[in-house]
Amino acid sequence: MPSDRLPSEITAPEEPRVTPAGVDADALLQASPNPYVILDPALTIVGMNEAYLRVTMRKRADILGRNMFEAFPSDPDAVNGRQLRMSFERVLRDKRTDHLPLIRYDIPRAGGEGFEERFWSATHTPLLDAGGEVSHILQHTVDVTELQRLRQLAHAGIGAAGPSALVESDVFARAEAVQSENMALADEGRRLRALFEQAPGFMALLQGPRHVFELANAAYLRLVGNRDVQGKAVRDALPDVAGQGFFELLDRVYATGVPYVGAGMRVRLQGDPGGEADDRFVDFIYQPIRDPSGRVAGIFVQGHDITEQKRAEQALQRLNATLEDEVAERTRELRERDEALRQAQKMEVVGQLTGGVAHDFNNLLQVVVGNLEILQRNLPPETARLRRAAENAMTGARRAATLTQRLLAFSRRQPLDPRPLSPNKLVSDMSELLHRTLGETVAVETVLAAGLWLVDADANQLESAVLNLAVNARDAMPGGGKLTIETANTRIDEAYAAQHAEVTPGQYVVICVSDTGTGMSKDTIARAFEPFFTTKEAGKGTGLGLSMVYGFVKQSGGHVKIYSELGHGTCVRIYLPRFLGSLEQDPVADVAAIPEGTHDETVLVVEDDDDVRTYSVEILRELGYRVVEAHDGASALRLLERQARVDLLFTDVVLPGGVTGADLAREALALRPGLSVLFTTGYARDAIVHHGRLDPGVHLITKPFSYADLAQKVRDVLDAEQQSQA
Ligand SMILES: Nc1ncnc2c1ncn2[C@@H]1O[C@H](COP(=O)(O)OP(=O)(O)OP(=O)(O)O)[C@@H](O)[C@H]1O
Ligand SMILES: [Mg+2]
Repeated sequence: MPSDRLPSEITAPEEPRVTPAGVDADALLQASPNPYVILDPALTIVGMNEAYLRVTMRKRADILGRNMFEAFPSDPDAVNGRQLRMSFERVLRDKRTDHLPLIRYDIPRAGGEGFEERFWSATHTPLLDAGGEVSHILQHTVDVTELQRLRQLAHAGIGAAGPSALVESDVFARAEAVQSENMALADEGRRLRALFEQAPGFMALLQGPRHVFELANAAYLRLVGNRDVQGKAVRDALPDVAGQGFFELLDRVYATGVPYVGAGMRVRLQGDPGGEADDRFVDFIYQPIRDPSGRVAGIFVQGHDITEQKRAEQALQRLNATLEDEVAERTRELRERDEALRQAQKMEVVGQLTGGVAHDFNNLLQVVVGNLEILQRNLPPETARLRRAAENAMTGARRAATLTQRLLAFSRRQPLDPRPLSPNKLVSDMSELLHRTLGETVAVETVLAAGLWLVDADANQLESAVLNLAVNARDAMPGGGKLTIETANTRIDEAYAAQHAEVTPGQYVVICVSDTGTGMSKDTIARAFEPFFTTKEAGKGTGLGLSMVYGFVKQSGGHVKIYSELGHGTCVRIYLPRFLGSLEQDPVADVAAIPEGTHDETVLVVEDDDDVRTYSVEILRELGYRVVEAHDGASALRLLERQARVDLLFTDVVLPGGVTGADLAREALALRPGLSVLFTTGYARDAIVHHGRLDPGVHLITKPFSYADLAQKVRDVLDAEQQSQA
């Protein structure tokens, strides 16, 4: 038995030296019957005495220079091995003696065959160097295996009253108390560690002025992309955080001991190892941790990743911002609507006023004109001066009547004679009048939509509305320019209708009169429809032209709108509601208008679209032509070879089967040199139209064409051919 001395009797390092002069400390240690082993801070065995070798049954050479746990391997997860490790750690950290009253630490049998069960009581004493750091640990072990066996026997009821009872009450009672306390502490440590590990917030413990990670929980590691931070200084562990102020904050907290609380702070971090840096938002505290002497020894970091919350907030903010925009937009719309309504009401009031005046004025004019007529009829022929005076008076009265008419039109009180009509026809019929009115310097172009709907309107008034717009356009282009009249089907949607007073959503025909003239300022646009508003010099304009247009269109259930930009030109759009019935037949006029065939002229119709071909064939037969038909170029050529008489080849430009309309025409003319050719096309104008003009002898009708269009065109082409042959 090596020794029965209690560990507490070992000399503590801070006590004065006890070895008498002349006695070698090493020899003393060697002579001691108690086993001693000396470890360095890395737990390498650097020395031991004979007693130690005896109790551990080892040779010096086998264990010297080896790690304690390598020299005496045990199951590292076993409680006792861990207790031993923890005791060493405490000594190194606290620089104080640590006791392990009773641990089971089995040692390999001398023969190398398995382990032998051993119980020990150990004391670990730090040996400090001149700087106060732990340079070595002195382990003093007492082999208490025999005592433990005795105790086990006592428990089993053998020799209960023997010396073991005494041992029981003394050594083991103390040992057990300390040990169970240690175990409880270890348990508590584990529980705290588990709590720390599982805490929802992030936590880390940084040690020393370089902020070395001593602990970091799972949430913290998640935040930093599961990097291995343990044992590293923050600047080394998280290099991507450099330059964002966090390290400097840590330095400050460490230096001043004043905690720092950060709220909603942005940190740019690599969320994935090697991945893109990512913005995270964190709430956190840097809490200085003090050692027993009160000096700051580390910093406890604790906080929450609030990135998701922050993103949600930002999304909400964006939503709010757009909401503001939307409200602003709605407000603007409302204001515009208000303005439009106010304008419409003003026009209404002015209309009522002028309407009343005009009505009375008309009656007065009736009297004036009637009496002037009586005067003119009854003035004797020799009173030439008086006659001239009456004539002048009459001219003035008629002009006054025209003005009055316009005023009535503006006030929407003129008698209208609405009938279903095609705006396209009305515009085409006006072309002669327009050319005459506008003069040489203004080019007129009409762009008439195919398949235009009908409207129900007063033709004369619509004509004078278009004429008024054309005259305004001319006046705005003193140096000449271009007037375009365009027609189209259109839909006024709810949104547009909401922006304009007195406008109902629905289908409309729009007639757009545009010019390349001076354009109008915003103010002029705002006032242009007002009666008597003119920018023209006195005597040049009455300011009633647009008023008339406005009144007439409104009275017809339509809408009129000016688009204009100073220096660029003006476009006035007249919207008239679509009329869903058909044109009233005027049998005399219609029969007279449509030119027919002679019942012996033959037309070859080449068209691959069955519907279009059937339609064309039907029209032509109805018009008095003989018709033969083909669906492609090859069969058309075969027909030409067989058919006795063909006066006109009417072919689509685009044909299937490799022979185009142009190819067909060329070969057909080679077969029959006098043949007339009329092309039709839905697009591909360029295939036969060069430089905007048709090649000589080539005629073209664009799809979709109407009955009347085709009748006219076919007649024209045949007549032209006859003339050239005559
Ligand atoms: N196409 C246009 N280009 C530029 N300004 C125009 C155009 N149409 C009208 N305006 C402006 O609107 C004003 C009012 O036009 P409106 O047709 O009602 O009267 P007016 O042309 O001045 O007189 P009147 O039509 O009786 O000859 C014009 O004086 C002109 O300033
Ligand atoms: Mg005018």
